[in-house]
Amino acid sequence: RLLIIDFGSQVTQLIARRLRELNVYCEIHPYQNVTMDFVREMAPKAVILSGGPDSVTRDGSPRAPQEIFDYGVPILGICYGQQTMMTQLGGKVVSGHGTSEFGRAYVTPEAKLDLLDGWFEHGVEQVWMSHGDHVSEIAPGFQVYGTSPNAPFAITADPSRHFYAVQFHPEVHHTPKGAKLYENFVKLAGFKGDWTMDAYREEAIRVIREQVGDKKVICGLSGGVDSSVAAVLIHEAIGDQLTCVFVDHGLLRKGEAEEVVTMFRDHYNMQLIHADEQELFLGELDGQSDPETKRKIIGRLFIDVFQKHADQIEGAEFLAQGTLYPDVIESVSFSGGPSVTIKSHHNVGGLPEKMGLKLVEPLRELFKDEVRALGRELGLPDHFIGRHPFPGPGLAIRCPGEITREKLDILREADAVYIDQIRKHGLYDEIWQAFVAILPVRTVGVMGDGRTYDYACALRAVTSVDGMTADYYPFSHDFLGETATRIINEVKGINRVTYDVTSKPPGTIEWE
Ligand code: XMP
Repeated sequence: RLLIIDFGSQVTQLIARRLRELNVYCEIHPYQNVTMDFVREMAPKAVILSGGPDSVTRDGSPRAPQEIFDYGVPILGICYGQQTMMTQLGGKVVSGHGTSEFGRAYVTPEAKLDLLDGWFEHGVEQVWMSHGDHVSEIAPGFQVYGTSPNAPFAITADPSRHFYAVQFHPEVHHTPKGAKLYENFVKLAGFKGDWTMDAYREEAIRVIREQVGDKKVICGLSGGVDSSVAAVLIHEAIGDQLTCVFVDHGLLRKGEAEEVVTMFRDHYNMQLIHADEQELFLGELDGQSDPETKRKIIGRLFIDVFQKHADQIEGAEFLAQGTLYPDVIESVSFSGGPSVTIKSHHNVGGLPEKMGLKLVEPLRELFKDEVRALGRELGLPDHFIGRHPFPGPGLAIRCPGEITREKLDILREADAVYIDQIRKHGLYDEIWQAFVAILPVRTVGVMGDGRTYDYACALRAVTSVDGMTADYYPFSHDFLGETATRIINEVKGINRVTYDVTSKPPGTIEWE
């Protein structure tokens, strides 16, 4: 395994992505937690020091444990990581005027280096820089291997100790040969690249069996990719010791509840409780139009219902959750201040303590695309694995204002036509998320010889990497026109279709 010490860069997770793509298992840990005892216990074969926002010239700024440089494994320092490495090994870093470099830069080679195999075939390499400080004097034993106009020590190394230090960020795609640099690094550190999903599946099953023994496990199944993959994996490990609870709040898309029940109960033969609680949810949501109130009602009821059904499973000691690696990584926060709640998220975080259950989280080490790969490995159908994200509060937040059964039914039909259009045009996988929102306005239209007075809806489709920022998807006018015609003709209750062209920020992806 490989240890990434995080100094708080925005792109530290990308380092882990690049390494996982090379089938190398790595873990990110915040610098505050990395003591030498921790390192010895983890026994990494190599270490990467990430970038970070601080300045090593500031007293008390973060450092790697000093002894890590005597631990005898290859170390790669990136940006801030490079600077702390230089400082800790006896070099110098300066900050101030004229030392910054942000954006694209070109590095020219100074000498040959194993880390740079496959680099400089065309003389220079484009890299991405983002630094205020720079190294002014390299540490004893180091040599310069690449320079850029503002970073005379863009690439330095002490190959005898396998210490490498780069000023730029090889993990971002603006450094086109960055992946090659990581490949060279893990190769020289002796990694074989044998961390595959197949191996992960075997290992995860062994760990689940060991953790659970002959006890029972409950799993909340939402129909989303994460909980589905977790459930199938755990089922493979312990069979009928697992019971899934599927809370049907009546806010799902067309055909979704049936699909979940058929797939998990009939196809996978899992014990599944289908908690059909539509009446309860829709009853409590009746007359509510404030977005936060709606979210809170759904969150509260969800927990109540789940608990009610879970309590009936005698002797359950574990709760399974589809927690992913990005939820686990403790972030290094320098801002400290409280951030504003934009939307209260639907989650069941407090549930295990409340119910006195221990957690089983077999996806804790995986990124989203790795979960998808594991799902495929476990035989989940492609269309299911590749589904767009769907929020916990479901259609409630795509129905601004008051929710009624009538509006939900219209919304489900319109959404089904829209998604069908997207699939038929082969656009589904290019889009990160697409859905219809039904608007709380009726407008006048004309159909045949008659006047209509029906709901308007908005189509939403965005591209995104992680849902934090998003752009609206640039459909062709033909596609939009055809889709509008189909929705108005096929869905009773809608006579006007609009397309939402707001990016995030300033908009959010969902309407509430
Ligand atoms: P927003 O609307 O905040 O959404 O731009 C970003 C992403 O998060 C999803 N989303 C949720 N997911 N529980 C979830 O599990 C929620 O309460 C929730 N609210 C929004 C949204 O669909 C988008 O993918």
